Amino acid sequence: MPKPTAKTSPAIARAGAPKAKPAGRGVTPGPKKEKTKVKKGQGAPSPAALTGSHEAVPLNGHAPLEVKLVKPGKAPKPTHQLKDPDTRVYVGDSRELLRSVPECAAGEVDLIFADPPFNWQVNYDKWHDGLPRDEYLNFTRNWLDGCIAALKPNGTLWVNIPDDTAAEIVVHLKARGLHMINWCVWHFRFGQNRMGSFIMSKVHALYFAKDRDARTWNPDDILEPSDRATTYFDPRTHNKAEGPNGLRVPMDVWYGKFWGRVQGNNKERRENHRNQLPEVYLERVIRACSNEGDLVLDPFLGSGTTSTVARGLKRRSIGLEYSPENAKSAFERIKAGPLRLGEAINQSTAIFAPRRVGKKQA
Ligand SMILES: C[S@@+](CC[C@H](N)C(=O)[O-])C[C@H]1O[C@@H](n2cnc3c(N)ncnc32)[C@H](O)[C@@H]1O
Repeated sequence: MPKPTAKTSPAIARAGAPKAKPAGRGVTPGPKKEKTKVKKGQGAPSPAALTGSHEAVPLNGHAPLEVKLVKPGKAPKPTHQLKDPDTRVYVGDSRELLRSVPECAAGEVDLIFADPPFNWQVNYDKWHDGLPRDEYLNFTRNWLDGCIAALKPNGTLWVNIPDDTAAEIVVHLKARGLHMINWCVWHFRFGQNRMGSFIMSKVHALYFAKDRDARTWNPDDILEPSDRATTYFDPRTHNKAEGPNGLRVPMDVWYGKFWGRVQGNNKERRENHRNQLPEVYLERVIRACSNEGDLVLDPFLGSGTTSTVARGLKRRSIGLEYSPENAKSAFERIKAGPLRLGEAINQSTAIFAPRRVGKKQA
C-alpha cells in the first residue's frame, strides 16, 4: 500500500506527594532536590558542566539553540557497531554527542525517541539523577535543542516524560516552532500503592513534528480492531468513509497486552535496567513514524529498547548512552534482537466483553 502523506491529527498534566526512594520509574512518585555533584569515584563530569551555565535559569527561559561543545569536524567513534542495517551505540553525554555524531550534526535523523532521566534519583550507574530543578530544566532544554537540530525537516520527535516535566517540554518545543501532533499517554496498571493522592498510572508520550504535513506517517502499519467491531458489532464500522473496515488507528491512550511496565518475570526484562520500556511501545512509534532504511535516534538508550526494535524493523539506528555498562548491555540486547515483534499488532484493546447482539443493555 502506498505510504500516505500525513493528515492533520488532533492535539491536546502532577502526581502527588513525593516520597522518593531509589527505584524504577512508575514506582517513584516524584522528584526531590539533592546535591548537584556527581558522587566521588563515579568518574563522570558534573552534568552541570555541560549545561553551559551553573547559574539558575528562569523557569520560563530558554537555553541557546546552538551549543558548541565539541570542535566542528571532530566526529566521535561509536563504542559498539553492527552493519545491515547500520546500528551504532555511542558512550557519552547526549548533549555533546547530539552535536558531534555526523548524522546528528548534519540534521539527517528521521525519527527521535527520547526517554530521558526523570530526575527522580534513579540509580543509572553513572548519571546523577538528582539535579536541582532549574539545572534539570536547563539540561532538558539543552538536549531538546540538540534533538531539534539533529532532525530532518520532515522528522518527528517523541518524548516519554511524566507529569512533572511534560508541560515545560511542550512549551519549549512549541516555542521552537515544532508542531504537536498528539499528546499520547502510556497507561500501565501497576503503579506504586499510595494513600496521599491518586496512584500514578501513566507517562506522557509527546509526539512532535517539524512539518505537520510532510512528516512520515504510516497508519496502515499500526491498525487495530475497533471496539465497534469487536464489542458492539456495529455495522457502520464495516462501511466507513475513511480507513479499512473494522479497523482503526489506535487511540491516544496506550495500554493492553504487553503494554505493562517491564517487571517481575516479564521475558523482556533486562537485569539492572529498571526503566525499560516495553517493546510494543517502540514498535508502534517506529512503525508509524519511519520507513525501512530510515535513521532512528535514541539520546538516552538505557537497556536499548529503541535500537533493538528499530533493527528488528530494518531501520538504521544511533543510540547515545552515558553509562558504558548500560551501553554494553544494550548492545548485547540489540544483537540478540526483539522478543515480541508483531505480537501486539492488530490486537483488540477493548476493555468490555462483547455485547450480545439484540439484547437490550442495562
Ligand atoms: C530512562 S533510561 C532509558 C530507558 C530506555 N528507554 C529503555 O527502554 O531501556 C535513561 C537512560 O539515559 C541515560 N542517561 C542519563 N543522562 C544521560 C546523558 N546526559 N546522556 C546520555 N545518556 C544519559 C541513563 O544512564 C539511562 O540509561
